[in-house]
Amino acid sequence: VEKKREETVSIWQELELGFLPALSSHQQSDVCVIGGGISGLLIAYQLLKSGKSVVVLERESLGLGQTSLTSAHLSFVLDRSFHKLQRLNGKKNARLAVEAHRDAIAEIEQIIREERIECEFERINGFLFYGEGESEKTLEKELRAAQECGIENAELLAQAPSRSFQTGPCLRFPNQAIFHPQKFLAGLSQAVIQRGGKIFPHTNVMQVEPGKPMRVLTGRGFQIACQDVVAATHAPFAVPSSMHAKLAPYRTYVAAFRMPEDKTDKALFWDTSNPYHYLRFARDSRGSILLIGGEDHRTGQIPDGSPYGNLRNWARDRLGISQDLEHSWSGQILETPDGLAYIGRSPKFEDHIFMVSGDCGSGLTHAAIASTLLRDLILERENSLEEVFDPSRLHLTSLKNFLLESSFGGAAYSDWVTAGDVETYDEIRKGEGAVVRDGANKIAAYRDNHGHLHLYSAVCPHWKGIVRWNTAEKTWDCPCHGSRFEKTGKVICGPAVCGLKEIVGGEVEERKQASA
Ligand SMILES: Cc1cc2nc3c(=O)[nH]c(=O)nc-3n(C[C@H](O)[C@H](O)[C@H](O)COP(=O)(O)OP(=O)(O)OC[C@H]3O[C@@H](n4cnc5c(N)ncnc54)[C@H](O)[C@@H]3O)c2cc1C
Ligand code: FES
Repeated sequence: VEKKREETVSIWQELELGFLPALSSHQQSDVCVIGGGISGLLIAYQLLKSGKSVVVLERESLGLGQTSLTSAHLSFVLDRSFHKLQRLNGKKNARLAVEAHRDAIAEIEQIIREERIECEFERINGFLFYGEGESEKTLEKELRAAQECGIENAELLAQAPSRSFQTGPCLRFPNQAIFHPQKFLAGLSQAVIQRGGKIFPHTNVMQVEPGKPMRVLTGRGFQIACQDVVAATHAPFAVPSSMHAKLAPYRTYVAAFRMPEDKTDKALFWDTSNPYHYLRFARDSRGSILLIGGEDHRTGQIPDGSPYGNLRNWARDRLGISQDLEHSWSGQILETPDGLAYIGRSPKFEDHIFMVSGDCGSGLTHAAIASTLLRDLILERENSLEEVFDPSRLHLTSLKNFLLESSFGGAAYSDWVTAGDVETYDEIRKGEGAVVRDGANKIAAYRDNHGHLHLYSAVCPHWKGIVRWNTAEKTWDCPCHGSRFEKTGKVICGPAVCGLKEIVGGEVEERKQASA
């Protein structure tokens, strides 16, 4: 299997999704979907079922974006609590959103049944317990808000029926689900192909040219002529700058421990801390694994201490787990001010470009919502969720949050005038990277394990933020809008569509000598 580059690898990435060739000729279709993660493939599937012809373009191998890094809870208990959703969106829209996530789980279940996809889908209970410094009152408040959002069968328990740990008082939410995301995508991509869809991995989209037809231009020199374009690229694509200001990229971490069978539960668990911790069990060929996640932080704002170390400490202190980490990985989520994704017409091209972005940590169910909502918008059908997820929305109640979130992206541009992480290239150890000031320039310097120095411009090709070295992942991360790059400069995730500019040949020697 082609692993996720040099980053940490998730347990799901052990499954290969099968070989498909890259785009090698011009194509025509009703709709071109950019992005081959769960969003892109679900949207393609629903459009094909409604009689549209569809081409899917994916920059990398299929499904190796955030979908392969997920913890794969299918839940209508969203990262923002029920009462916050109500405050930020109003009671009516909070209820519509929660019901949409509940229906999204049912939609995924229906597709799995109809297409006979073997992906370990199971309906299970979810338990919310309170975190440090909180009390049962938090749970009582959440229960009332959950009921007002239409979740009438939630209940307060003194303790979850758990073999793995003592939750204490908790809320039980029936009818959550888990699945194996890569197995689901394997089956879904087969269903897309069987229904006449065309999928081209290793095909980077560089630009969309509006018109009749729309033209999707790829880095391979071939283009797709189509009526409608859907950007299911996780980070938004072909949007105005105001859209980036409404999104805040966060890194989020998962630590996995091997567990004895008698200490496992078929259930999901979360706490009410901010950022919160969650737990779920998964299986591989060797038995049961416990996934613990959390420790989120703004992308590019590298925390003191190790997020994995913090998760291990939490597992030890809260759950009594003393075994070593078996797997660990991180991924990216995009937060919006009101806790709901942007799904609908791209504000820049009102008519024929559609988008889904801003997963808010619930991107699997947001993907299923996007698949039916965008299908309806493209087919010009009414859909009661259009306003709730409209990318152009800016609720006044969430304006303060929005300004706070976006201010870090703005502050990150101040890196242009600060000193480097180190003064000379000699200070960079093998296997590490650092930003070095070089006159008016900032250089992203990485020293490989053989001691060779690789130099890149530290200027992010998206909108000229200055990238920062991420020690946990050995990547360059842009704090402005979350673009990430391999240590050798290649783009991992957008909004940037190309890599860091390499400083080559004589320039390298000149800079090394200048630093000596
Ligand atoms: C650690 C972690 C835990 C999570 N847990 C949960 C959870 O329990 N439940 C939940 O609902 N959600 C969860 N999420 C979120 C969820 O996994 C994601 O939101 C979801 O998988 C995103 O799917 P996607 O298809 O929108 O994006 P991706 O899977 O990232 O797919 C987008 C694709 O677009 C491609 N692309 C981008 N730009 C271009 C371009 N220019 N040309 C061509 N292709 C392009 C990318 O290569 C990528 O493959 C979690 C996320 C993380 C990181
Ligand atoms: S991601 Fe926008 S400037 Fe880097």
